[in-house]
Amino acid sequence: MPQHPAEPFRIKMVEPIRLVSPEERQKAMKKAGYNLFALPAEDVFIDLLTDSGTGAMSQYQWAAMMAGDESYAGARSYFRLSEVMQKIFGFEYFVPTHQGRAAETILTDLLVKPGMYIPSNMHFDTTEGNIRARGGRPTNLVCDEAFNPTIRTPFKGNMDLEKLRAFILEKGPENIPFGSITITNNAGGGQPVSLSNIRAVSEIYHEFGIPFFIDSCRFAENAYFIKQREDGYANKSTLEIANEIFSLADGAWMSAKKDAIVNIGGFLAMRDADLFQKVSNELILREGFVTYGGLAGRDLDALAVGLMEGLDESYLAYRLGQTAYLADRLLEAGIPIIEPAGGHAVYVDAGRMLPHIPHAEFPGQALDAALYLEGGIRGVEIGSVMFGYQDPDSGEMVYPQLELVRLAIPRRVYTQSHLDYVADTLITLKEKSQELKGYRITYAPPLLRHFTARFEPL
Ligand SMILES: Cc1ncc(COP(=O)(O)O)c(C=O)c1O
Repeated sequence: MPQHPAEPFRIKMVEPIRLVSPEERQKAMKKAGYNLFALPAEDVFIDLLTDSGTGAMSQYQWAAMMAGDESYAGARSYFRLSEVMQKIFGFEYFVPTHQGRAAETILTDLLVKPGMYIPSNMHFDTTEGNIRARGGRPTNLVCDEAFNPTIRTPFKGNMDLEKLRAFILEKGPENIPFGSITITNNAGGGQPVSLSNIRAVSEIYHEFGIPFFIDSCRFAENAYFIKQREDGYANKSTLEIANEIFSLADGAWMSAKKDAIVNIGGFLAMRDADLFQKVSNELILREGFVTYGGLAGRDLDALAVGLMEGLDESYLAYRLGQTAYLADRLLEAGIPIIEPAGGHAVYVDAGRMLPHIPHAEFPGQALDAALYLEGGIRGVEIGSVMFGYQDPDSGEMVYPQLELVRLAIPRRVYTQSHLDYVADTLITLKEKSQELKGYRITYAPPLLRHFTARFEPL
């Protein structure tokens, strides 16, 4: 019997949820153009759309919010956050942003020119969208095992170092304004990156004079995986591991809505004073003054507390244990997923579960819609809807290698019985998988189409 460590907290406040009838679910989906993003949350029973901004804050975070200083400039809240930023990340400069993509927008606007390349293990959708919006070419150079859903290697988020070096030599370092790595690798199954890989990536970028930025949304989960799986780190604290990770980079950005367990927030951090000056100017135009960056003072305080709570090892043991629990229940029932379980989510392999639905008919979308219709559960498609695109050179449609449905687990929100309900619903769907049909897109915007596309069942 799979199990996960008991929650290292108890529940003090509850938020009612309800399962609407199958007829109401049908109606809601039709109205939403079969796009789960367009569903009212009211009609969702278990919401695994994202782990971003959906976590439950602790009593300490709520208490810290009461002490928020709402001064326009130089608020106490900012200095409390600065202290924690130094303790964990150690960059000379940082600006708060309202979320991760605001940091990405500023960074890419300042550094990316049309035709430039930005390598990473895998970019997430907003990073990719931001780079493309500036005419840049996001390039994913993750190790090959990332595309093999059943290989159980410990660090499937690692960059392929040979590919990275060859890529830089081919494109020329002058065409690469910065290099990146995403920890953990959200677009590739939430798989972690090892410290030795991060160190080697840093060395390669620096050998060619390319600044190295880390997309660090899930740095704490990645640090805990390193502690559990990488030789030499078992006795280091997650804070020490985080310190070592960020000492290797020139900067980082973070959607704090993940491992900092806040409902809104982010930052862009760097070592370069000149870049900081430019970032500050952009921030003031777009987000707000440099000491609040689009957030309220109270948000900065919740973030300062949440960053440290996100590194707590009893919390991380429960958190990663919960994901592994859902993964084990699905595997036990023969449901294909990306193995081993990622940090923040279980990725169901819709390509293998629905082999009769081709890429062009969106197997991930088909499974995602079926999950809602069957059990009121909302996941997110990470496949050809999200990452399919028309190649600007050849005009051909390019499809991703994996067609996934991500079941992202909000932090400190759902219990084991909620996860059992999710597993049982998927098991029911597996039994009738042959009946599931693909979808056709009836509307799609040019970028980040998964958010607002509309579909029709085939
Ligand atoms: C790896 C990664 N990078 C960047 C982002 C963007 O962050 P935000 O949604 O706060 O703009 C996300 C959000 O899911 C993410 O997972």
